[in-house]
Amino acid sequence: MNHWPRNKQVVEETEGSAAANTAWLNQERESMHRKMLSAVSHDLKTPLASVIGSLEVMERMKDRLSPEKQRELFAVALQEAYRLDSFVTNILDMAKLESGSIKPQRENVVCAVMVRQAVARMGHRLAHSDVTMLDENPGLAFSSDAMLLARALNLLLDNAVKYGGEKPAITIAFGRAEEGAYISVSDEGEGVPADKVDSLFCKYTRIAKQDTQVAGTGLGLAICRAIMTVLGGTVSASANSPRGMVFTLKIPVAS
Ligand SMILES: Nc1ncnc2c1ncn2[C@@H]1O[C@H](COP(=O)(O)OP(=O)(O)OP(=O)(O)O)[C@@H](O)[C@H]1O
Ligand SMILES: [Mg+2]
Repeated sequence: MNHWPRNKQVVEETEGSAAANTAWLNQERESMHRKMLSAVSHDLKTPLASVIGSLEVMERMKDRLSPEKQRELFAVALQEAYRLDSFVTNILDMAKLESGSIKPQRENVVCAVMVRQAVARMGHRLAHSDVTMLDENPGLAFSSDAMLLARALNLLLDNAVKYGGEKPAITIAFGRAEEGAYISVSDEGEGVPADKVDSLFCKYTRIAKQDTQVAGTGLGLAICRAIMTVLGGTVSASANSPRGMVFTLKIPVAS
């Protein structure tokens, strides 16, 4: 049976709105492309320029540099190389998640162990933060992909460090939720205006002007959301009280 509209006016209106939809989609694609190019040019070229600059100075002036200056240049090159590595990892992760090529490897995950491993993996990144862990249901375990879950948690912790203020106070709470388990990461930083919260999970979104001073591509939360979708769960954000943000991972637990 043919469901297409036959009436001439309906056909014209339908074609008109289809054309408007296509134009809107093209505009969205164009805007995403622009955001991506600007993120790539800033986040790829800036650290690369620093690595090259530092190494060139070391090469050209190697006999004249004090050991302290050499150490400083070396540290800059290494720091910027780490930044590049994280950027490239994020771009590749996003591409893999979007192409559907990442399939969860389910295993028995002991929540507290996975959280501790994710924290340990942050290494020196948490050195200047005050981290509190609240294990609401000791012994909680469920079937999920520990690696993917830890990656989602690391992306939230990375943000809590970056946007949590001078000496970030970070609380990681985990336990049973209504239909599964939850892991939340809260901080006491500046937070995000309520009307911007939903947009945080879109690719290449960076909210505050000063965010451009902090290393980042605006991909972390989009990756986190894509991971939670693959795991059949969710990630959400809300304001922390009295200040800062709370990000919550919800993990379904098969009964
Ligand atoms: N805990 C937080 N407090 C305040 N703002 C936050 C927090 N987490 C994220 N944001 C805001 O959301 C934006 C998007 O976060 P997201 O993790 O996607 O990207 P990023 O941290 O800028 O870069 P990337 O994670 O790719 O290195 C951030 O730029 C920041 O403006
Ligand atoms: Mg981030």
